[in-house]
This record gives sequence, structure tokens and C-alpha cells, in this order.
Amino acid sequence: MRIGQHESLFPLVQGGMGVRVSAAGLAGHVARCGGVGLIATAGIAINSPRYDGSNYFATEALALKDELAKAYAIAPDGIIGTNCMVAVTDYAEMVKASCEGGAKLIVSGAGLPLNLPELTADWPEVALVPIVSSVKAAELICRKWAKAYDRLPDAVVVEDPDTAGGHLGEKLEKIGDGSYDQYATVRGVKAYLASEWHLDIPVIAAGGIWDRSDLLHALEQGADGVQMASRFVCTEECDADMAFKQAYLDCRAEDIGLIMSPAGLPGRALMANVAKIRERDLAYLSGCPTGCLRKCTFKSEGERFCIVHALDRAQRGDTETGLIFCGTNAWRATRIETVQEVFNELFELEQAEAINA
Ligand SMILES: Cc1cc2nc3c(=O)[nH]c(=O)nc-3n(C[C@H](O)[C@H](O)[C@H](O)COP(=O)(O)O)c2cc1C
Repeated sequence: MRIGQHESLFPLVQGGMGVRVSAAGLAGHVARCGGVGLIATAGIAINSPRYDGSNYFATEALALKDELAKAYAIAPDGIIGTNCMVAVTDYAEMVKASCEGGAKLIVSGAGLPLNLPELTADWPEVALVPIVSSVKAAELICRKWAKAYDRLPDAVVVEDPDTAGGHLGEKLEKIGDGSYDQYATVRGVKAYLASEWHLDIPVIAAGGIWDRSDLLHALEQGADGVQMASRFVCTEECDADMAFKQAYLDCRAEDIGLIMSPAGLPGRALMANVAKIRERDLAYLSGCPTGCLRKCTFKSEGERFCIVHALDRAQRGDTETGLIFCGTNAWRATRIETVQEVFNELFELEQAEAINA
């Protein structure tokens, strides 16, 4: 799959997973196996040796560059990029740090990345990939980018709010009501890019893709590639603590649900401990500790919980009071595997090798 100047062996992007669920270990190994590995930039300072509890914004960019360097040590020639969330306060800094740190692409959502080309103007080789959940969002982005920056996306990720993990680009009440059609959106974005811009770039389906048959279905339905996140959590190389992975192994489909994030977006997560997250933050936090999000109800009104700390706690193994984001498929995890084993299953590599032998 070609994204801008970068060509991956397999049409697979590993979705960015913050906080530090997809850091150097996972992104590096996915890239080494021939996929596109993404480091999630959101909150990356928090669990960095550079962070002393008070220097969040001063360490974010440095922590990200450390992580990119570690990922390239794993996959020197791999395609490694970052996931940058529009909703964070230091979005511009994290985009620039991605470019300076050698990211080959930036995948950006949780809001419309309307000024992304401006932030990356000095690095034209960095491919730009917006995440959308509607044809309309793709239209808004293309029109703005073309008019203001003479640039168009190098690929588009279409994320399905009915199945994806993490923050979702749809109103809470509309999620799961049957009104969203993922592959109609994929084909709609593809048709829009072709008709309005004569553009043939990868349109990548994200959400609910777990195994080879899901992958083949996505490709049959018109996607050029897939972005997968939850499947990679239960890999040896995933950067989350084993307790986080164990929560996936233990969960049932009915344990997965929707929360309202303090960011003002719905999110999909394991639901059992959500009340405890708030109790813990009320007990230990006197207010917003970092200012990580531009708009946050915990910051402005003390409502809900501190999301960056809740995600960080889960990543470090506190599954009692940590927020465990996951897609609707997380219950399908039955064992810890290697990233290579995931690729073998998805692309029938062992069989292909056996045939060749
Ligand atoms: C633990 C977790 C954390 C996530 N964090 C982010 C994030 O920081 N930024 C983002 O754009 N998407 C995030 N996502 C969404 C994924 O990148 C991906 O698009 C989605 O989960 C795909 O669906 P799947 O998990 O069913 O494969 C996250 C998903 C999970 C499961």
C-alpha cells in the first residue's frame, strides 16, 4: 500500500493507541513485519523518564522523539508514523515533533485536522492521513486543504463509530442505532476523492477488523487497506502492562460499552470500573493536573475524570482505576501472540512460506 512516498508491504496500519498502548515496541514491530506502525502521541510525556510531574508540555515533544528513535531502532527501514489527536492542547507541537523525529506519516483525528498541512509545510515528504467517520468530514478537509495549502490527503482512514475503540467521531445517541454504514462511507469517500479531485489514494477502513476474514471482507467492500488496533493489544510487543492485556483476555462482549469522555466525545471502553475512575480522581486530584486537552469537562467543571491519567494508569497495569479503551471485538482475544503471528494469520504467511518451500 502506497501512502505518499511510502510503500508498505501489507495494506495494514496499526491504529494509534494512547496513552502509550502503541509506543515504540508495538509500532516498531508492526513496521518490521511490513505494516505501518503508529505511535500514539497523546499524553506520551506522562510515563516518560523526562516527566517530573510538573513539566508536561516541556517534555511531550522530547518524549515523542525518544519513542520514534526507539521504534526506528527496531525497524530501521520500516514505515513508522504517529497518531496526533486534534483535541489536545499541544497538537501543533506534537505534529512538528513527529516530523522532526522522523515520522513518515501523521494520522490525525479526534476532531478535523484542518490545519495539518500548515503545521507540516517544512516536511513535504511526511504523508498526511486524516481520520473521518463521514463523507462530509472528508469533503471539509479536502476543500480546506486544497484552498488554503494546495495539498490533499495521502490516504484517508474511515473509522467506524459502531465498532472502533477509543474516542469516536459520532454523537453518543447515534452510535449503534443502525444509521451508520461503514462500507458505504468507505465507498463514498473513495468516490468523492475520485470525482472531485481525481485522486486515487488508499481509503483505509478502521473498526471491528480482527482476523483474516474481516480483512478480506473490508477489501471486498471497497477498502484499500485496514487500520487495526484492538487485535494488537494482546501481543507480546504491545507497550501496555500485562494487566491491561489480561483485561482484554478476560472480557466478554457485554463488558464493552460507551462512556462520555471529558473531551466531549464518546469513547468505547471496558465498563466495569468506570465509576471507580471518577472516585479515584476525586480522592487524589485537586484539579486538572496537566491541561492536556483544549476542551475538557474535568478541567473546566470538575466533571467526569482526568482522562490522560485514567488512560495512563490502565497502561501501567492499574485496571481497577484505569480506563481501558477497546473496540467491540476485544472479547475475541484468547491468547498473547507475537506481532509476527498476527501478520501470519492475517496474510497467511506461514502457509505461503510452506508452499514456496
Ligand atoms: C486502547 C485504544 C486506544 C486508542 N487510542 C487512540 C488514540 O490515541 N488516537 C486515535 O486516533 N485513536 C485511538 N484509538 C482508535 C484506534 O486507533 C483504531 O482506529 C480503532 O480502535 C480501530 O478499531 P479496532 O480496535 O476494532 O481495530 C484507540 C483504540 C484503542 C483500542
